[in-house]
Amino acid sequence: MKTYTILFAIAIVASAITAPITVAGCGSHPILDVNEPHIQELGAWAVAEHVKQTNDGLKFGKVVSGSEQLVSGVNYRLYIVVLNLAGQNVTYNAVVYEQIWINTRELTSFDRVN
Ligand SMILES: *[C@@H]1O[C@H](CO)[C@@H](O)[C@H](O)[C@H]1NC(C)=O
Repeated sequence: MKTYTILFAIAIVASAITAPITVAGCGSHPILDVNEPHIQELGAWAVAEHVKQTNDGLKFGKVVSGSEQLVSGVNYRLYIVVLNLAGQNVTYNAVVYEQIWINTRELTSFDRVN
C-alpha cells in the first residue's frame, strides 16, 4: 500500500515536471494572439521575402492564425491573407525560422492554402 502511494506521488511529480518541458522544448503550439505586432510584422516580412524571390506581386493582408515552435530559434507557421494581382484575397502558409538574438530570419516555405 505504501509503495503504491509513493509510486503515485512520483507519477504526479514526474508529470508536473515533464509537462512544461514538453511545451517549451519540442512541441509546436498555437499562437494565441496573432494580432501581436511582431507576428503581423513577421507575416509581412514573409510575403515581402516571397515576392523578392518570385516577383509574383502578392500584397500582404494580415496573419489570420499560426503556430510557433521553439528550437534553437523559433519556427513560426503563419496563415497569411494576401491580395494577388488578380485582386483576390488568398491564404498562404508561410514557415519562418527566426533567431532573434543573432538577427536572422529565413523563409523556409511559402505555399498557397486555398
Ligand atoms: C481583402 O481583404 C481585405 C481585408 O484584409 C479587405 O479590406 C478587402 O476588401 C478584401 N478584398 C477582396 C477583393 O476581397
